[in-house]
Amino acid sequence: MEKYLINGGRKLSGKIKVESAKNSVLPILAASVLTDEEVVIENCPKIADVTSMLKILNSLGVKTRFDEDSLIINASGILEYTITETLSKELRSSVFMMGALISRFKKVKIAYPGGCDIGLRPIDIHIAALKSLGVSVTEKEGYVNCLAEKLTGREIYLDFPSVGATENVILASVMAKGKTEIKNAAREPEIVDLMKFLNSMGAKIYGGGTSTILIDGVESLSGSTFKPIGDRIEAGTYLIATAITGGEVEIKGIDVKNISALIHKLCDNTCKITIKNDIIYLKSGGKGKAFSFSTGPHPFFPTDLQAPATALLSVADGVSVVTENVFEMRYKHIPELIKMGADITVKGKTAIIKGVERLHGASVTSFDLRGGASLVVAGLNAEGVTEVTGIKHIERGYFNMPQKLNALGADIKRIN
Ligand code: UD1
Repeated sequence: MEKYLINGGRKLSGKIKVESAKNSVLPILAASVLTDEEVVIENCPKIADVTSMLKILNSLGVKTRFDEDSLIINASGILEYTITETLSKELRSSVFMMGALISRFKKVKIAYPGGCDIGLRPIDIHIAALKSLGVSVTEKEGYVNCLAEKLTGREIYLDFPSVGATENVILASVMAKGKTEIKNAAREPEIVDLMKFLNSMGAKIYGGGTSTILIDGVESLSGSTFKPIGDRIEAGTYLIATAITGGEVEIKGIDVKNISALIHKLCDNTCKITIKNDIIYLKSGGKGKAFSFSTGPHPFFPTDLQAPATALLSVADGVSVVTENVFEMRYKHIPELIKMGADITVKGKTAIIKGVERLHGASVTSFDLRGGASLVVAGLNAEGVTEVTGIKHIERGYFNMPQKLNALGADIKRIN
């Protein structure tokens, strides 16, 4: 069984560069089917979720190839509009194919998407929005069938600022007739990045980063070469890993305002943080103090950093209270942290964490991507060896995590 063996207790130190953001790249890959012309994604991370998305594109007849770190995509030969259950279940982002294919070809049949098991992840907001644009949607035997004669822009109010639904509406409406206005849109930086990519193809989308997004439908889109933003969740994970080991690390490739919620918490703590352009330098000041936070849509504390932050707080001085407001089942890492000596009680959405002196090594299982990252973070602090299984979840979103951490002085072995 594939696993990581982490020999804990080493301070991280050195320099590291983050990959392009997974959550930018995945909708951008879906958006690449909106043109017959060549699209180049520079600095495309070779993570498992990208591989899964490429499998979906290839199954439709899209040609893709890597030229070093650049991914070259040509969607001129699409022949297929069905995304099978096997492919769709591999990742949540398969859902972006719904907006992209309906936009370009006015038809798509897709099995319900998979992804991390972190609670109910319905797609009702996506579907309601597509219907508003004129798409006829039927759901049968695990598949969503979408058909449209034409797509017509209009005002769409999202019941919740869902990241995926906002992106799907953008994809679906970019070539619709007239103007679409998304109210209560999500404001995540990756949505702004998707908009920049589409605008570089000739789209007219305004208001990124605010809760009202305006899309002025265009006739067609052209090819583009685009470099997505750096991965704020990867950067946040490595900042937390540095803090928990009492280390000193420079992280390059990240716009700090995209993770200011975490930075504020770490600055208020014992960490010294310096920012210069796209570089964040963190020097831990020793054992951290407890802090509390509630996750929420951007710019609130990102749910994707909740699990790594929980690991950090499990060895902080004092009691922290964490509230997970975005997903119902995002605490699967907590029983695993408890195996490592953490003192955490979960009551509904809230986790109460009493910091202990230090964690100890144990055999633990990663059940989802960010929960898995939190176990690696915990293992870096722990006394002795931590064995993390279920690493396929971690590798969906972190490229070469053991290699990157080992380059900073960690001792992690990947066993095949
Ligand atoms: C995206 C991110 C994921 C992140 C999450 C929240 C990508 C590829 N993934 O996921 O890393 O954790 O945003 O920041 O960008 N919901 C509904 N109905 C819907 C859609 C969503 O009830 O139709 C609910 C979800 O179940 C969840 C909440 O809304 O409880 C937030 O989901 P959403 O913002 O859509 O997250 P994703 O796009 O799936």
